[in-house]
Amino acid sequence: MKKIAVLTSGGDAPGMNAAIRAVVRRGIFKGIEVYGVRNGYKGLMAGDFIQMELGSVGDIIHRGGTILRSARSEKFRTVEGQEQALVQLKEMNIDGLIVIGGDGSFKGAGKLTAQGFPTIGIPGTIDNDIAGTDYSIGFDTAVNTAVEAIDKIRDTSFSHERTSIIEVMGRNAGDIALWSGMCAGAESIIIPEAAYDIEHIINRIQQGQERGKMHSIIVVAEGVCKGADIHKVIKERIGLETRVIVLGYLQRGGSPSSFDRMMGSQMGAKAVDLLAQGEKGEMVGLKNGQLIHVPFEEAAKDKHTIDISVYHLAKSLSI
Ligand code: ADP
Ligand code: F6P
Repeated sequence: MKKIAVLTSGGDAPGMNAAIRAVVRRGIFKGIEVYGVRNGYKGLMAGDFIQMELGSVGDIIHRGGTILRSARSEKFRTVEGQEQALVQLKEMNIDGLIVIGGDGSFKGAGKLTAQGFPTIGIPGTIDNDIAGTDYSIGFDTAVNTAVEAIDKIRDTSFSHERTSIIEVMGRNAGDIALWSGMCAGAESIIIPEAAYDIEHIINRIQQGQERGKMHSIIVVAEGVCKGADIHKVIKERIGLETRVIVLGYLQRGGSPSSFDRMMGSQMGAKAVDLLAQGEKGEMVGLKNGQLIHVPFEEAAKDKHTIDISVYHLAKSLSI
């Protein structure tokens, strides 16, 4: 490996910059030239490469987003798009590519490896929904952001004796809802991984009101339904006017937590080491606190799971 490239793809996540920094610095430390690809696979197909020096990644470890920018590309899903990317990599004499992103991005990277081009993936998505790893860069920061927001909403919910419904991100995964709901003491948490009963949620609100607790927090994962849908049902059933807050892209930005900086740094360096050792078609991950690497296909075989006992614990602590 003399020359490698790195790109960020899919939804951005806090800590991606720490991973880019680690890839660049570890690469240079090992005598490898490192190129950044701007705008994910879109930039790869367009040959948007930029040589990264030690200074290119100075002052970024604390910054949210990704200095390389991210994108989603329909064209890259096609064989034509992938061939275009391979031509660009060949023209630049790049020997290996590190992709920081989610499972969709790894499917794309796997296609390049199937054509004989070495790739290594680093899990980066606030959703924490990647199979084969316990952790994806960005999740911890997103949860902290959501908890901070819910704490603030709780203050005003208390003052006005209101029920607030907070919709959080997570596409098809309930991790952000579960963690932020647990850590912010939500009365009800609605996630795709567990069936919910709206009557039970309404009973909780009413039981609380009977004992003088007039405010309540419901956290719903976007993968289940919109916060507005829950509002509608509650209003129809008991006439209660709730307030709906969609946290949205707030959760994707902000300075990464120390954990995300640590994960970005460790996984970034590990990805370079793997490429240098001749590994390809693999994702770096974290399992039981240890850095691991698994083939993309093997990771994709499993389904990402949450620890359902945390859900039951949250339920039992919010009676
Ligand atoms: P994430 O990586 O966060 O899961 P996406 O699922 O949107 O985000 O995937 C990011 C990009 O990866 C897509 O825009 C596309 O260019 C590429 N990609 C996703 N799935 C595939 C696939 N099956 N084959 C080739 N490329 C893919
Ligand atoms: O995958 C990360 C994520 O932020 C999801 O939580 C959300 O559903 C999605 O990306 C939003 O995607 P976009 O940036 O395309 O609107």
